[in-house]
Amino acid sequence: MQNSSLVTLANHSREKIEYLIRMAHEFEKNPNRRLLDGKVVATLFFEPSTRTRLSFETAANRLGARVIGFADPKVTSGTKGETLKDTIMMVSNYADVIVMRHYLEGAAQYASEVAPVPIVNAGDGANQHPSQTMLDLYTINQTQGKLDGLNIYMVGDLKYGRTVHSLLMAMRHFSPTFHFIAPDELAMPDIYKRYCEEHGIRYVEHQDFNADTISDADILYMTRVQKERFVDLDEYERVKDRYLLKCNMLKKARPNMKILHPLPRVNEIEYLIDETPYAYYFQQARNGLYARQALICDVLGITLDDIQKKL
Ligand code: CP
Repeated sequence: MQNSSLVTLANHSREKIEYLIRMAHEFEKNPNRRLLDGKVVATLFFEPSTRTRLSFETAANRLGARVIGFADPKVTSGTKGETLKDTIMMVSNYADVIVMRHYLEGAAQYASEVAPVPIVNAGDGANQHPSQTMLDLYTINQTQGKLDGLNIYMVGDLKYGRTVHSLLMAMRHFSPTFHFIAPDELAMPDIYKRYCEEHGIRYVEHQDFNADTISDADILYMTRVQKERFVDLDEYERVKDRYLLKCNMLKKARPNMKILHPLPRVNEIEYLIDETPYAYYFQQARNGLYARQALICDVLGITLDDIQKKL
């Protein structure tokens, strides 16, 4: 019903992505711009979250909006049997935009088709996480000074990790070379490898994870093994600690290399790495505020020009 929803970045043009980065940059200069006075933003989180929910809510607050919503679906009438459609229709009566995280792939698309207000996908199952991708793109551009022609290593759970699926698709305009490092059980799904082939994106698959393998990385994108998506917990136990990034693995790293992680981390990055100049995951999370301010504004029809005028 409402076509300004953000379900995925896969259909965004290069120009649109660069425009959103410029919007986010304005918010980095000054996040307190009351562009949403009188608006209400709803955050509906059917799955746990720390960063995504809190940064969306901070974004809304710093834009002058009010926030309603829930962080735990157990406190909602979903427990009495209310459907997703009815929940979305109800909340649309109260809010101007709905930010939703759901455990089912396709839930955001479905919500966008029934809702009379814009939906912003805050993660749908193992499918897409476009607001994470927007902050990832912002961070990559910030640390590398460009998005084009980078060597991007994705490590860990490439099967269930929605952040890597989303990022891979959004990078199609920027001629990346991807390196996928994962055990067989968590390899990048064929659908995304086909996507690379169809869009002329180079990729290499590895199982080794050592100083030599990652020596030409510009971005080392670590991911958590997504326990909550495993049907067989024995399989999770077998793969969960397969790839741990240790300090001695950085001895051949390029000087510009940055380690990103959507967080939370569990056992993928040794804590000592936090003290190295390569670690960038906490700054990456901070960029989530600016990227999400840009996305909320965009789905509500607020332009870069509007933002620049509201100092
Ligand atoms: N990166 C991310 O989605 O983190 P949360 O699950 O804490 O929102």
